[in-house]
Amino acid sequence: MPPDVHRDRVLILDFGSQFTQLIARRIRERGVYCEIHPCGISLDAVRRFAPQGIVLSGGPSSVLDADAPFAHREVLELGVPVLGICYGLQWMCQQLGGVVEASDDREYGRAQLKLERRGDPLFAGLEDRPARTVWMSHGDRVLRLPEGFERIASSDNSPFAAVRHRERPLYGIQFHPEVAHTEGGVELLANFVHGICGCGDSWSMEAFIEEAVGKIRTQVGAARVVCGLSGGVDSSVAAALVHRAIGEKLHCILVDHGLLRENEASEVERIFREGLGIPLTVVDASERFLAALAGVSDPERKRRIIGHLFIEVFEREAERIGDATFLVQGTLYPDVIESVSVRGPSQTIKTHHNVGGLPERMKLALVEPLRELFKDEVRAVGRKLGISEALVGRHPFPGPGLAIRILGEVTAERLAILRRADAIWIEELRRGGLYDAVWQAFAVFLPIQTVGVQGDARTYDHVVALRAVTSVDAMTADWARLSYDVLASASSRITNEVKGVSRVVYDVSSKPPATIEWE
Ligand code: XMP
Repeated sequence: MPPDVHRDRVLILDFGSQFTQLIARRIRERGVYCEIHPCGISLDAVRRFAPQGIVLSGGPSSVLDADAPFAHREVLELGVPVLGICYGLQWMCQQLGGVVEASDDREYGRAQLKLERRGDPLFAGLEDRPARTVWMSHGDRVLRLPEGFERIASSDNSPFAAVRHRERPLYGIQFHPEVAHTEGGVELLANFVHGICGCGDSWSMEAFIEEAVGKIRTQVGAARVVCGLSGGVDSSVAAALVHRAIGEKLHCILVDHGLLRENEASEVERIFREGLGIPLTVVDASERFLAALAGVSDPERKRRIIGHLFIEVFEREAERIGDATFLVQGTLYPDVIESVSVRGPSQTIKTHHNVGGLPERMKLALVEPLRELFKDEVRAVGRKLGISEALVGRHPFPGPGLAIRILGEVTAERLAILRRADAIWIEELRRGGLYDAVWQAFAVFLPIQTVGVQGDARTYDHVVALRAVTSVDAMTADWARLSYDVLASASSRITNEVKGVSRVVYDVSSKPPATIEWE
């Protein structure tokens, strides 16, 4: 019998905070499986999930608004421990008869949390200092507690920064324990899930792999399975996991659309064949893609063209394998949550290219072994499956590849320039020890010419923009504050070594209002 990785379980009701996924990741890091659901899910659904604990997330709304998001009040009466965070605390207090007010002093950023009462299990191990730094982000605050509640801690602007019910397992905190700036935040969440909810630590990546292998075998039986590799982490880990389960019944196909990074296709081929012993077919379709993209400048048209052609090439190749009934897809948990988010299905700002459309056309059923995992968990699974760090630690890369990093028309010449510039940029980041510190870094080709001088000659060449961002989930991102030395060496190497580039700029825009990619 494989271990039950879902034995310990916590339900997170999402009121729309940008940190909700972070709460889930912090809890899972402590060995407890958790799922995020929209705050308003039915009481039946809550009962079916059978949580040992419930976390109410923060959110951008005010409980004082008429259309404020809400959960069913009965979730507070199931006898299951509840931890309300920020909006979650305010909603809980309001529901149970307390008073929430809009405060003039918005509390944003670091605050000092003062313990007012000792001996509470939520703060076990965190009482060695009378005050510690926590991170706040709220306008409203609790003015009066509901009957039966008492205060555990306060801050300058929040008289009720941490509270609890005297008899029932209901807790609330005004600060965000999930963010790194909160000292002891991880320990506090651990106190809640282990100490108060009584969860063990059954969620681990070893156990996950064991369980997933069994599930894949059951789902697939004796059928053949195809998998499209993209060079990215998700499809690679999904393929390795399915291969562990069904061996040679898995057929991997790498469609090289000619829009990959320098040496990427050959590197993936080597890692799979030699490193993992997983055979794969590499289809070089770069000329077809380039021809199809000729004269196209509009980013969404590029995406559509690449998406359709990808399906065509993949389908042709998969048919060669014959009678495949399943397709592996590297769908991750954030994709699953996003489609049921509290704000309704999230707006499609860009049509993201994956093998969408293919399963219906080829009548393939999906195998999605990573549907429950966050990106960092996928990486951990990849490492346990023996995938090299060079692949597992790689930055995310968009399906349409370099085509959306060349503004304007995609040509072979521009691809060659961008590929080299991008490789130098990444090399310099690695050399400076910064590659792993950023979420994504890449170069962008700008189809404009500027004046330069090289030797004694005046040049009139292209511009390359360098981008490096920090992020948690790519929903928001900040430009990375990198050292000038790294920027200087990348810039000087690119202008010296890459013919056709006379100027390098660094992108200092955050998301929002910009996006991570330029197209
Ligand atoms: P943006 O540019 O929307 O990017 O801030 C967010 C994340 O999504 C990636 N991205 C894509 N991934 N197909 C993909 O598979 C696409 O068309 C696409 N566009 C953006 C981007 O690299 C970042 O990680």
